[in-house]
Amino acid sequence: MLLADSTELKLLNLSHKDELFTLINTNREHLREWLPWVDATQSPADSESFLQFAINQYQSGQGPQYAIFSESALCGVCGFHPFDLSNRSGSLGYWLGASYGGKGIMVRAVQALVEQGFREYGLNRIEIACATGNTRSRAIPERLGFELEGVFREREYVNGRYLDQAIYSMLASEFQPKA
Ligand SMILES: CC(C)(COP(=O)(O)OP(=O)(O)OC[C@H]1O[C@@H](n2cnc3c(N)ncnc32)[C@H](O)[C@@H]1OP(=O)(O)O)[C@@H](O)C(=O)NCCC(=O)NCCS
Repeated sequence: MLLADSTELKLLNLSHKDELFTLINTNREHLREWLPWVDATQSPADSESFLQFAINQYQSGQGPQYAIFSESALCGVCGFHPFDLSNRSGSLGYWLGASYGGKGIMVRAVQALVEQGFREYGLNRIEIACATGNTRSRAIPERLGFELEGVFREREYVNGRYLDQAIYSMLASEFQPKA
């Protein structure tokens, strides 16, 4: 999927293993503040296991996860956690290497996934859960017009502490495609 400003989304596949691991390995401090899986990712084989999980998820109809490329370099990941199919509901996750932040790359990627979720996959609800203190992450659903539903207390254990999560959602009836 080609987006504006040389940003491209490619379905995750095993060929991304080495570049993905290198990106994580060189961004540990940036990522581990908010993401629970970083310390457990210690080798390319760990990235391969994640990629295989994402491939299986996609092939079983539970939603896509993408590598984000900026000017041909793998700069992050965004995608759906496995769909809750019986409720036609999806939840999005995302991260970028530190040097790729502040350029609008993720808001473009998430906008594309929201559009795909409602139009192509027929979802009725898309959710984004962000730690309350993660202001850069919260800015994404806020920019895209998601509604803040509330805060779930100590919902996630990351890097030795429990984090409160702000839950944002958009419903199919609220979705306004970009012209
Ligand atoms: C969360 C994360 C992806 C946000 O990255 P980001 O670059 O701030 O997000 P965006 O792509 O939406 O970019 C927005 C920034 O780009 C700027 N920008 C530049 N060009 C832009 C454009 N064309 N459109 C929109 N924003 C643009 C915005 O002004 C904004 O910068 P600011 O916050 O300094 O004002 C990143 O901080 C990250 O990976 N963090 C660690 C992992 C993490 O927390 N993941 C989420 C877990 S819930």
